[in-house]
Amino acid sequence: MDHFMELLETRRTYRRFEQREISQDIIDDILTAARLASSAANRQPLTYIVIKEPDKVAGVFAHTKWAGALPPEQGQPKEEERPVLFIAVVENLAVNPDCDTDAGLAIGNMTLAAWNRGVGSCIIGACNKPALAEMFGLTQSQALHTVVAFGYPSHASRVVDMEDPTQFKYYLDEKRDYCVPKRRLSDVVRYL
Ligand SMILES: Cc1cc2nc3c(=O)[nH]c(=O)nc-3n(C[C@H](O)[C@H](O)[C@H](O)COP(=O)(O)O)c2cc1C
Repeated sequence: MDHFMELLETRRTYRRFEQREISQDIIDDILTAARLASSAANRQPLTYIVIKEPDKVAGVFAHTKWAGALPPEQGQPKEEERPVLFIAVVENLAVNPDCDTDAGLAIGNMTLAAWNRGVGSCIIGACNKPALAEMFGLTQSQALHTVVAFGYPSHASRVVDMEDPTQFKYYLDEKRDYCVPKRRLSDVVRYL
């Protein structure tokens, strides 16, 4: 259990990566973790597209935005810092059009399974969905939920206590490591 809580604590969003391939074995773990996630009425409306060839990864990257809280020169990965893998999460609307929670659970499992193998990730909601949907050949009954970027991190990221409830933006410290303010338990929990 301690290991699991440590996994949760250290599984942060990573935005700079080593240019090192991720083995298929690890990709299989990530996809299996998505497959095993809970699903409303067990309908399982999600499918996944794996993008791992470098030129295709670059094509997807071109349609993604990183670290909205930071100036681009700080938050946008430079060419030698980019992720080496994307997995797109696709909603199959005929199976269940209301699958945002399913997607969140699957993405949570994916990022944890990756981190369990030392692979960091960044969930990318800020992407050009029409352009990516066309690139992925999605049909009328499919919608792109998110793309998730993966790679071996080349920076650290740590949780810090949020001192001021309005200061939720993450920031970089002097070593360019990410600091992620989280609200204290006492600020978010009430026992009835
Ligand atoms: C639904 C969702 C969409 C996100 N979209 C982006 C994004 O487009 N670009 C980005 O750099 N980070 C994105 N993130 C990452 C968040 O910024 C990050 O989770 C947050 O700053 C907290 O950091 P943590 O994941 O380390 O706790 C997204 C996260 C979630 C949950």
